[in-house]
Parts: sequence; C-alpha cells; structure tokens
Amino acid sequence: MSSPLKLAIFSTKSYDKTYLSTALSAHPTLSSKTEITYHPFPLSLDTAPLAAGHTAVCAFVNDTLDAPVLRTLHASGTRVILLRCAGFNNVDLPAAEEIGLFVANVPSYSPEAVAEFTLALLQTLNRNIHKAYNRVREGNFNLEGFLGMTLHGKTFGIVGVGRIGLALARIVRGFGCRLLASDPKPGMSGEEFKAQYGGELVELDTLLAESDIVSLHCPLVPATRHIIDTGNLRKLKKGALLVNTSRGPLVNTKAAIEALKSGQLGGLALDVYEEEGAYFYNDHSNEVIHDDTLMRLMTFPNVLVCGHQAFFTREALTEIAGTVLGNLEDWVEGRRCVNSLVSEGHLEVPEGREPVRM
Ligand code: NAI
Repeated sequence: MSSPLKLAIFSTKSYDKTYLSTALSAHPTLSSKTEITYHPFPLSLDTAPLAAGHTAVCAFVNDTLDAPVLRTLHASGTRVILLRCAGFNNVDLPAAEEIGLFVANVPSYSPEAVAEFTLALLQTLNRNIHKAYNRVREGNFNLEGFLGMTLHGKTFGIVGVGRIGLALARIVRGFGCRLLASDPKPGMSGEEFKAQYGGELVELDTLLAESDIVSLHCPLVPATRHIIDTGNLRKLKKGALLVNTSRGPLVNTKAAIEALKSGQLGGLALDVYEEEGAYFYNDHSNEVIHDDTLMRLMTFPNVLVCGHQAFFTREALTEIAGTVLGNLEDWVEGRRCVNSLVSEGHLEVPEGREPVRM
C-alpha cells in the first residue's frame, strides 16, 4: 500500500471536523488515502513543526502563513497550503512562490451568507434589536433609547462590488435605498451597474460624502489597509453608519473611536477587527482582555462587534469543505486548479488582487 497523504488542519473547531469529514467521504480518490490530523490551535511559527511530514496544511483566516512559517512547513515536507477562506491577506504569496508551494483558496462560498449577515448586523445596530432582546427578557417593554432610522430612501454606499458587494447590492435594492458603489475594477460598466442593480458607480469621496450607510466589501491589500482613516472619516456625512464585514485592518480603529466620540460617525457595526487574531474564535470570557482599543470600542452604545461570523452558515461550510478537498484533489491528480493562488512556482492571483507582503 502506498503511504497515506497526510493533511494537517489548524484552528480546527467542531464544525470544521464535521464538514470536512463529510466532504472527504464525497471525494473517493482522496478518502481512501488521506489521513487528517486536526489541531485546535492556530498555525504559527511555534506550531508549524507539528505539521512535520504532512504534505498538505489547511489554514483559516487568523493562522500565520508568513515567510518563516512557510519555510518551516516546506522544510519538513509540506507542499500544499489549503486556505479554507476567501481572503489570503495572511499568506506571504511571493514567499510561497519563491519556496515552490502550491496555495489555493476558496474564492467564493455563499457570498449571500456574508451579504445577508451584513444587513442583519446593520439592522441590529440601527434598530437596537440586541438591546431589546435583553430588555424584554427582564420584563421591560420601554422603547426609550431604541429609536432607529428607516432604510428605505436612504443612501447606501458599498465599497467593493465583487461577489459579496453585488449580493449586498441586490438586497439593498430590495430595501428601496439609493445605491452608490465605488470600486477601481468593478467588473462592469456604470450603465450595466445601473441597469442590473439600480445603483451608481462613483468615486470613493462621493460615496463617503453622500451615504447614510457605508459598507466595506473590498479585500485587504496594501492599498486598502486603513481605507477608513481619519481623513476619510471626516469626509463622511455626519452621523453616518459604518459596517465592516470584510477585514479588520480596512478600518483604523483608533480613528473610528475618535469619530464615534465626536459624533462624526453615528454607529459602527463590525464583524472583523484589526487585531482580531489574538481573541476571535476562542472563549476569553474568564480572562482579562488586554486589548484596550477593542474594549474601548465595546463601551460605545452605538457599536456592535461580532466575532467574524458572517460566513457561518451550513451552506457556506458545505461549500468551503467541498472546495478545500477539491483543491487538494486537483493537486494530487496533477490537474489545473481554478482556485490556485500559487502553483508550480508562479503567482496566479486573480486579476484585480495584489499579492500581499505585510
Ligand atoms: P471579490 O474579490 O469578489 O471582490 C472584491 C472587490 O473589491 C473587487 O471587485 C475589487 O475590484 C474590489 N476592490 C479592490 N480594491 C478596492 C478598493 N480600493 N476600493 C473599492 N473596491 C476595491 O471578493 P468577495 O468574495 O466579494 O469578498 C470581499 C472580502 O470579504 C474578502 O476579501 C474577505 O476579506 C471578506 N470576507 C469576509 C467574510 C466574513 O465572514 N466576514 C467571509 C468571506 C469574505
């Protein structure tokens, strides 16, 4: 019998095991020869040696895949990096190219899941549903403090109209909002965007100045890091709401805190946070949280933070697991993988995305 294909999975949760093991049984060419090791902890320079002898490593959003980690993995036999997420800002792709690793991601998994969550998060903040839930449970049916705004007729700005941005555009249209979008490579003309989504493609400055709600859906690349900073926060309509379900470092959190204090920013709904890697996806309820910026953020009555869960639906997990194993199968069979970011020593980053070294 030939030696098994060893796959080490980092940052594993119970649902990863459930969905990946179900997907494995649907890939007969892999299931008979693949041996999976599940690690609950994240991938880092300290934990990378635990992947020794594993040809493939599967990682998630807050795992570290910088050059030292990639070199450590490669030196002990790893040839394949399987991301079980769309974003690849945590991978040093140029280093992976240099080393000769194969890297593939899951570019799309239910963009509607993220778009629907974005609207849910926005409306929870806007209509104070999270506070109402607690108040009513205590027998308090007072509405003081719950006043929100009607979305119908408001201007909704979407920054980045890729898969998720467009899924959100469809929802926003249904709410009867005026839709503005900004994207340096929108994938369609202004006329097409207007015809299909009823919106207008505009410059970021116009979007910021005219929107009542701004929602971020661009990837994290050097050009978008802190795309929402002090300068751009000043350009917002006073009291506008900001939603970020994309990547934490798109927003300069300290600048957002200042804008919340002055009232320039009317509310902030976050599913992602700049320094989320230290806390998200794990229970820290019995510890002292040392991130003062995060804790300050959570003291505002008009801030809502969730722990990077916009993708978290049964449908999305099924797609993610299926695609991860499909990518591995492509590599094993020597087939061209449509989701590869680096293959045979070449960067294959989809057009419009920059290789990141950060
Ligand atoms: P996509 O690649 O389909 O679309 C991204 C769009 O952003 C592209 O049209 C691109 O041209 C545009 N863009 C690039 N630079 C820009 C800039 N400076 N200003 C405005 N637009 C810009 O990506 P997709 O699938 O829509 O995902 C977007 C992001 O959502 C991902 O990069 C990821 O970081 C995040 N995400 C978050 C999840 C969560 O659970 N919170 C789950 C999945 C993705």
